[in-house]
Amino acid sequence: MKKASLVVLISGSGSNLQAIIDAIKNHTLNAEIKAVISNRSDAYGLKRANSANIKTHVIDHKQFSDRESFDQALIKTIDPLQPELVVLAGFMRILSDNFIDHYLHRLINIHPSLLPKYKGLNTHQLALDNQDKIHGASVHYVNHELDSGQLVIQAETTVSSNDNVTTLAARILEQEHKIYPLAIKMHVEGQLSFDKEQLMFNNEPLLEPLQWKKNKLST
Ligand code: GRF
Repeated sequence: MKKASLVVLISGSGSNLQAIIDAIKNHTLNAEIKAVISNRSDAYGLKRANSANIKTHVIDHKQFSDRESFDQALIKTIDPLQPELVVLAGFMRILSDNFIDHYLHRLINIHPSLLPKYKGLNTHQLALDNQDKIHGASVHYVNHELDSGQLVIQAETTVSSNDNVTTLAARILEQEHKIYPLAIKMHVEGQLSFDKEQLMFNNEPLLEPLQWKKNKLST
C-alpha cells in the first residue's frame, strides 16, 4: 500500500514528532514524513528529524511582518510536498484563517487537556489549580477557533495530590505519544472522514471522541 505523506510542524522538543517517527519505523504507521518545519532554529525536534533523515526547514516567524505572510511562507513550503495530513506537534503559533481553510480537514493538532476544558496555554497548572481529579490530552482537527476543532481521541490520567506540573506533563506526554500516531493512522487509513463539518469514524458520525483507556481504544 502507498505510504501517506505527512508534514509535521514543530516549535520545540518534538517528542510527539519522535513518537510518529517511531510508529513509522516499527511499521504501525504506513506513512512518510516529507518534511519537518520549525519556526524556531533551536527546536530540539529538528535534531530528531535530522537523526531520522527527514528534511527540515526553519521558517522563523520573526522574519515576517505579519501572520499572513508567515503562513503564506509555510504554505509555499508545504504545498509542493502534497501531504495528506499536516500535523501540528507542539507548534506554538496561531494559524491564520487562510492557512486553516487551505488545509481544512487535513490539519490535526494535539493539545494537553481534555478539551473543551483548558484551551490555550498552561493547561497542567489550570488542572492543578482547579483540583481536577482527571486531566488528559486530546487530538483534534483544526478549525477557525483555537483548540476547538472536531475531537478525535482523548486519553485521561488521574491527578493525585502529589502531582505538580512536571509530573503531570510527563504522564500526559506518555499518553500523547500513544494517541497521536494512532489518530494519524486512522486518518491516513481513511477511518476518519468528514460529512460537511461532522467528523465521521468508519462512516458513522463521531459524536463523542474515542477514548484511549488501559492502552487500548474504546468508543
Ligand atoms: C505537547 O504537550 C502537546 O500537547 C502540545 O505541545 C507539547 C509538545 O510537546 N501541543 P513535544 O514538542 O511534542 O515534546
